Amino acid sequence: MDASLSSQSVPGFFITFEGGEGSGKTTQIERLAGWLREEGRDVVTTREPGGSPGADALRYVILSGAAEAFGEEVEAILFAAARADHVAQLIRPALKAGRIVISDRFHDSTRVYQGLGSDMDTELLDCLERAALSGVYPDLTIVLDLPAADGLRRAAARRGKALPDRFEKEDVAVHESRRRGFLGIAEMESDRCVVVDARQPVNAVADEIARIVEDRLSAHRLERVGHSLGAAVQGAGGA
Ligand code: TYD
Repeated sequence: MDASLSSQSVPGFFITFEGGEGSGKTTQIERLAGWLREEGRDVVTTREPGGSPGADALRYVILSGAAEAFGEEVEAILFAAARADHVAQLIRPALKAGRIVISDRFHDSTRVYQGLGSDMDTELLDCLERAALSGVYPDLTIVLDLPAADGLRRAAARRGKALPDRFEKEDVAVHESRRRGFLGIAEMESDRCVVVDARQPVNAVADEIARIVEDRLSAHRLERVGHSLGAAVQGAGGA
């Protein structure tokens, strides 16, 4: 298995967006990517489940509900398989090429949607996570937070007459527990995660995210300069 792609070891920068249904991830990712491109950055946007041809095929199987009958373990394995392909085919190569990758959902969604309120063996979930990510962890995760009922209303308005997918159709209490799940992860992994109040107007959310990303990218640049200097000093010492 490859060594971890920590922020110092690759030139790229990996951002994930997480949050409940209707939290505005798609709109905010478009806004952030647009702003970064205007700043001259090389950005690739992607989403899960999906993001590579193999993972997109699995997306259909999962979201149509076709895999539901096989049970939650099989669904978790399918999410992991899709993620492994997404990482190998798109995310890792883009990060190695120095690009900024922004993904609409990633491993925190599995931790919350498949991990919470289920009988799933947590060791199996941890093991699937390690295998799927193979060291490619996000540098920054934006958690868009809003009450589940508000998010579901927005998601229903956006969907129009189309039927809700396998996960959208669940009860508001389930969605509210997922919201708490994302907030819990953000609290436990506060170096990586930043919670943004998604009830604010779209422009205010976009501005707040742009400020967070700008700060993190500057810190990342400095870390990499420090890392290169350290390597140069070590090389000179060893010569
Ligand atoms: P999608 O149509 O992409 O909607 P959203 O805008 O909510 O991201 O649907 C993805 C659904 O799949 C969403 O309900 C969350 C769920 N999901 C999981 O259950 N586990 C996962 O690991 C991922 C990535 C998504």
